[in-house]
Amino acid sequence: MLRRLHHEQPESFEFTPENRAWAEAQITKYPPGRQASAIIPLLWRAQEQEGWLTRPAIEYVADLLGMPYIRALEVATFYFMFQLQPVGSVAHVQVCGTTSCMICGAEDLIAVCREKIAPEPHQLSADGKFSWEEVECLGACANAPMVQIGKDYYEDLTAERFAEILDELAAGRVPVPGPQNGRYASEPLSGLTSLGEYESGRTKYNASVQRAVDLGDTIKRIDGSEEPLRTPWLEGGSGRPERPAAAPEAPEPRPASGHPVDETGVDTREAPVRPAGEPPRAEGEQPIGRRPEGLAAPRDGKPDDLKKIKGVGPKLEQLLNSLGFYHFDQIATWTEDEIAWVDEHLEGFKGRVSRDKWVEQAKILASGGETEFSRRAKY
Ligand code: FES
Repeated sequence: MLRRLHHEQPESFEFTPENRAWAEAQITKYPPGRQASAIIPLLWRAQEQEGWLTRPAIEYVADLLGMPYIRALEVATFYFMFQLQPVGSVAHVQVCGTTSCMICGAEDLIAVCREKIAPEPHQLSADGKFSWEEVECLGACANAPMVQIGKDYYEDLTAERFAEILDELAAGRVPVPGPQNGRYASEPLSGLTSLGEYESGRTKYNASVQRAVDLGDTIKRIDGSEEPLRTPWLEGGSGRPERPAAAPEAPEPRPASGHPVDETGVDTREAPVRPAGEPPRAEGEQPIGRRPEGLAAPRDGKPDDLKKIKGVGPKLEQLLNSLGFYHFDQIATWTEDEIAWVDEHLEGFKGRVSRDKWVEQAKILASGGETEFSRRAKY
């Protein structure tokens, strides 16, 4: 679906003083130069204030974060959570139209929307109270068909029950969210088949529904009357924090070389650099294992194809090379201690060396043999 800004826009936008204070506190979560990271919560807050996301609101948030308008517009038009046109004053209904829900009756629910709200999605009802749209899977497929109204899910719906829910909302009541057919959660329709012993001790509603009932904010918008955002990292200081007081001093980010400067600061800096293969350690933490001896470069400029080892892909091969490991015979000699070190230093792949028995594979490959994997694998 093409997501465009609405043809009618208000003149201006400004956060309420409460929302402005919340937004400024939110921005302090991010280090200097990274304020743009607060874009989603701030746009969301602006939407909560107005009901939908107007162009002046998007530009206001961009100004607040020191971002070019186009960057903020990209975010606002990309995410479906942002409503780019006016929505019903009571509720905006999102009907899941994906496979499970479609098979179980989503089309009947959409027919109810067309009849009771407006013939087309994103149109306001005649009284301005409701609007609707069809959305992709909302992750409640086991309770299909379902709709999201405001912040909560109404599940296991029939057209009749959905119509009643809309009537109740129009009358100023908020029906209890969750399954609407007597189901507790997403257990089999015919009842529990296991863990039945816990049935008698359970609460009135399942945890999600209970939370929704406790909060009571199904269709209530955030309006600034909530508890203010707590910013313990600001305590004792004034204005913007340098860092949370207890946090270690961060190294100065260094400018990236050869990259164009971006006004938001996002592309002008790199993560702090540390020696290759050395993740940061907490104070007092002992290093794990012992680093195997590596090479500065492959012998004769000819590295072995480490991808022949099961569990090593192109990324891991690159990582191993960056740690100084280029040859099967290097890996074949790793001791327990050295395996522990390498396992610990494979960022994102920790534990692969032992899990896939690299040393055993490397011994075979180093002696000119083939493993079952290397025989099968194509490179
Ligand atoms: S298909 Fe509707 S919630 Fe997943």
